[in-house]
Amino acid sequence: MTRTQEIKTLVEQVFRHFHEHPELSYQEFETTACLRKELERAGITILDTGLKTGLVARIGDGAGPVIALRGDIDGLPIQEETDLPYKSQEAGRMHACGHDFHAAAVLGAALLLKEKEKVLGGTVKVIFQPAEEAPGGARTVLETGVMDDVQAVFGIHIIGNVPVGTYAIRSGAVTAAVDTFKITFRGKGSHGAHPDRGLDPVVAAANFVGAVQTIVSRNSDPFAANLVSVTHIQGGNTWNVIPETAFVEGTVRTMTKADRELVESHLRVMADHIAQAYGERADVEWIPGPPATWNDPAWSDFSARIAAEQGIRVVPAPSNLGGEDFAYFLEKIPGAYIQIGVGNTYSNHHPKFQLDPAALYPASEYLVRLAGAALDKLQKGQP
Ligand code: NI
Repeated sequence: MTRTQEIKTLVEQVFRHFHEHPELSYQEFETTACLRKELERAGITILDTGLKTGLVARIGDGAGPVIALRGDIDGLPIQEETDLPYKSQEAGRMHACGHDFHAAAVLGAALLLKEKEKVLGGTVKVIFQPAEEAPGGARTVLETGVMDDVQAVFGIHIIGNVPVGTYAIRSGAVTAAVDTFKITFRGKGSHGAHPDRGLDPVVAAANFVGAVQTIVSRNSDPFAANLVSVTHIQGGNTWNVIPETAFVEGTVRTMTKADRELVESHLRVMADHIAQAYGERADVEWIPGPPATWNDPAWSDFSARIAAEQGIRVVPAPSNLGGEDFAYFLEKIPGAYIQIGVGNTYSNHHPKFQLDPAALYPASEYLVRLAGAALDKLQKGQP
């Protein structure tokens, strides 16, 4: 068996192993140990980052331009319902978002790059990122400082219902900024038959739930993909008592920084003023999540061209109001988020999700080509 064939077999085995043994965000101890073992066996340097789970490996001696490849590694708290021969053996845990694929594909790329280390025009940092689903893993990696010298970063994600051999790549925002709001309307409790003696927070909350949708329909550019969902509302606990408070929470999805600020400011004003209209107060908590995943136009075109050179069909990536914490890397470092077709399936995060592993090894080969070409481009002084 040639070394390349050995690596292909190993990557496929490791993928099935990860699929059988998913670990939740920041609990990826066995996954990390397995990656470490395979990298060390190949003589690849593992950087001392202090990460408790996940790891960063380096190919090249740190000289020349530096790029990074990122694969996330965590699973989800879902009971798997497929009949795959390598179905999850861990109760209530499943790789239902393809992070087993990402980890294995990026491992394959690292092993293949190691074979070419002497002719590599620079350094590749390989990021096995913990806790994409938590979220927060990308920020944990950034806080180690390991990305500080990285000039371009590339991340992969599987995409269902796109055929194997097709990648979805597009410049600009491909996933949304994900923010959470929590609002407590504070009124004054009273007897259900004497609303005049109280200030009813349920009425204020109900008004807010209806009114908040007009931020999207009346204050936003009609061509912008903005979204506000109220997903949780709670107030009172019985039929004849007006409660003191009512609670409303939900999620906001936006594709640009300007829209993100616009929705937040309107939402705050609306909550405050609706509360005031009823003589009440609104406490608004805004919890920012990852920004939109913004693909640099030059690197995104470059990634598409390299895919085409490998005989991969490239289609424009769909817009998606889901979130992706790779966005934190792209906020700091130019690069691209590349979506890899894995055939027809239930959606990701579904208990019956499954992907076609035929896409796996070609993804490793693609990352090798991409890394090599990106280093050459940077060495020539092209941004
Ligand atoms: Ni995912």
